[in-house]
Amino acid sequence: MRPYRSVLYIPAARERALEKARELPADAIIFDLEDAVAADEKDNARALLAGVLATADYGTRAKIVRINGLDTPWGREDAAAFRGAKVDAILIPKVGSPADVDAVAALIPDVPLWAMMETPAGILNAAAIAAHPRLAGMVMGTNDLAKELGTRFRPDREPMVASLGLCLLAARAFGRIAIDGVYNAFKDDDGLRAECRQGRDMGFDGKTVIHPAQIPVANEEFAPSEAEIELARRQIEAFDAAQRAGQGVAVVDGKIVENLHAVTARQILSRASAIAERAI
Ligand code: COA
Ligand code: MG
Repeated sequence: MRPYRSVLYIPAARERALEKARELPADAIIFDLEDAVAADEKDNARALLAGVLATADYGTRAKIVRINGLDTPWGREDAAAFRGAKVDAILIPKVGSPADVDAVAALIPDVPLWAMMETPAGILNAAAIAAHPRLAGMVMGTNDLAKELGTRFRPDREPMVASLGLCLLAARAFGRIAIDGVYNAFKDDDGLRAECRQGRDMGFDGKTVIHPAQIPVANEEFAPSEAEIELARRQIEAFDAAQRAGQGVAVVDGKIVENLHAVTARQILSRASAIAERAI
């Protein structure tokens, strides 16, 4: 199990940021060739990134490259440049249907594919997209989605919750990774923390972030807390003891613990130990 608490976007044209990221505590990096790179920088950014990824060591951080869409002048060259590259995933922008995944899959046969979920059609087709056999992860593109829907920003994200929930359902139905969208106000830690909590409570694996200062907040909020870890240990202990006594249910802190709760508790412990290993 690999942690994806913080997934940092880096514009691929920013050499200094590419270098800096090798020391940042993000669990994963999205090297962006798409919207964070200006049209006249696209070719330079692609060449710079290909060179950096061939030589630089990003340690245990997952390396994900966001290519341009195949309906743009740059998408095919991006796909050709990163076909066979030693990266953990290729992220496809603005996926509307499984056909969009097919088209990239045909060009890149050897790398897991992730989908940006950020168009109304994509959200409505979330289940079919998640079911694609080459798909490994989904990333919420909440800025594009807000633009398409005409949604206003609200701290509680109420207008966005249906879309987030549909994608989470789709990802979980097919065992895919699910990453929440970005929080634009990168100097507002309290607002970021509240959004991380909401995404974590919904079930997302982590949050995309745009600035190094956002990484510690996402790492903290998407990790099991000490209290959760301690409770999980007691639940497993109590459940195992109940089973040895021939019972299927235990009680901890006045709440029942059945097999399914013990499974969740074990998942919490394995997430915690994956994070602890990552920190070494
Ligand atoms: N990844 C890695 N390093 C980053 C970074 C990022 N996304 N954003 C900033 N940094 C680095 C800067 O290079 C700088 O490093 P240094 O001081 O060691 O040279 C340090 O963090 C502080 O940066 P700061 O001056 O506070 O920010 P900025 O004004 O340079 O950049 C943004 C602010 C928002 C423009 C920038 O963070 C950014 O481009 N983020 C990503 C945007 C993106 O990818 N969007 C697409 C998806 S939504
Ligand atoms: Mg987008």
